[in-house]
Amino acid sequence: MAATIPTRVLTGITTSGTPHLGNYVGAIRPAIAASRQPRAESFYFLADYHALVKVQEPARVQRSTLEIAAAWLACGLQPDTVWFYRQSDIPEIPELTWLLTCIAGKGLLNRAHAYKAAVDRNRNDGEDDDAGINAGLFLYPVLMAADILIFNANKVPVGRDQVQHIEMARDFAQRFNHLYGEHFVLPEAVIEEQVATLPGLDGRKMSKSYDNTIALFAPRAELKKQIQSIVTDSRLPGEPKAAEGSALFQIYQAFASADETADMRAAFADGIGWGDAKQRLFARIDAEVAPLREQYESLVAHPQRIEAQLRDGAQRLRERYAIPRLRALREAVGLRDLSTPPVNARGEATTGSAKSVIASVASIASFKQYREADGKFYFKLVDGERVLLQSVGFDSPKDAGARVASLKRGDFDADDATVSVGPGVALDEVTAALATMAAENEAK
Ligand code: TRP
Repeated sequence: MAATIPTRVLTGITTSGTPHLGNYVGAIRPAIAASRQPRAESFYFLADYHALVKVQEPARVQRSTLEIAAAWLACGLQPDTVWFYRQSDIPEIPELTWLLTCIAGKGLLNRAHAYKAAVDRNRNDGEDDDAGINAGLFLYPVLMAADILIFNANKVPVGRDQVQHIEMARDFAQRFNHLYGEHFVLPEAVIEEQVATLPGLDGRKMSKSYDNTIALFAPRAELKKQIQSIVTDSRLPGEPKAAEGSALFQIYQAFASADETADMRAAFADGIGWGDAKQRLFARIDAEVAPLREQYESLVAHPQRIEAQLRDGAQRLRERYAIPRLRALREAVGLRDLSTPPVNARGEATTGSAKSVIASVASIASFKQYREADGKFYFKLVDGERVLLQSVGFDSPKDAGARVASLKRGDFDADDATVSVGPGVALDEVTAALATMAAENEAK
């Protein structure tokens, strides 16, 4: 059945700034290209809930939402062939966020780059770990997972810095599926290898948080000025220049064909002056952007049209997917009509008592013990085809059996030397499987 469903491509941009070349190259352009592939169903949205994590200026959130919507439309988004919407117009997204929050491992969230970086900054400054950090930053990956999972998106074009978030979305999806049945497909990150992260004016990743961006739709003269401020080394015209590691070169490459890039590389080796190189970069970018800029300006002049388009997209999307999906998910987790008979995660009827519900919902995970050719005794914890835990070899079956018994009592932690977590398995999944087994034993 899966083969008949078109690939779903989904991407969002946080509405906390003015669209810049990094957004264009890293997200908007590849996403729009993907939407033109036949057999893709594309989802584009304005991540305005995500914006609130960082921006507490209402006018800026509003302005940014307008600019980003206009940018996508100007860049060729066709709202009649793709889903185009604003996150906050779909109340089912925050609703799913809560369901995922309740299965997301806190330990996993502690390791999210953005949150960890904020904690590290606090430590460096001698502050309390969580000083000034809002819970939205901490839960950001869960909201993002809800964005993706609510529509069962298969592919998510993102910058490299977002890959960890997609991995987390996979983890939450797996965990949810494990507990409540197969509801979610596991999304994959898609990175355009060459140009996924564009350097900014100072050579670091182009990002509004570094204040090193080049606005996508700045007026022509302003674009030129910004390009002139790209940081270069002090080599003079005539001196050979290294293309590798040059922000200017990398930005050029993101806009140029392979031939143009080769020409620019040769010009660097031949000692092109930085002024000339910047002029060439400006001309190349402007050639691509000028027609889009015209569109953009006319769109921003008519915000009511964009507003209507966004509302229409969200309305249709809710009816088609979001509302029925949340209905099924609520049902799956047990937020149910009280008058219907209880069923477990595998759809089997249970009797009413709490104990028997626990017993019948219990994990299908089990321990398998076996002997290998090396003469040693092993065991693994399996859930269907998946290996959740794999043991080392024990000298006697008694030792292996004793370890299994202690695991069943909950004696397990991440640094355990006698067992390792299976490939693609989250630590929390193991803990949950063991806990459910223990609960099942108790119920018996
Ligand atoms: N976090 C993404 C960013 O900052 C934006 C985003 C929010 C997103 N939800 C998403 C991207 C879902 C892809 C899929 O760039």
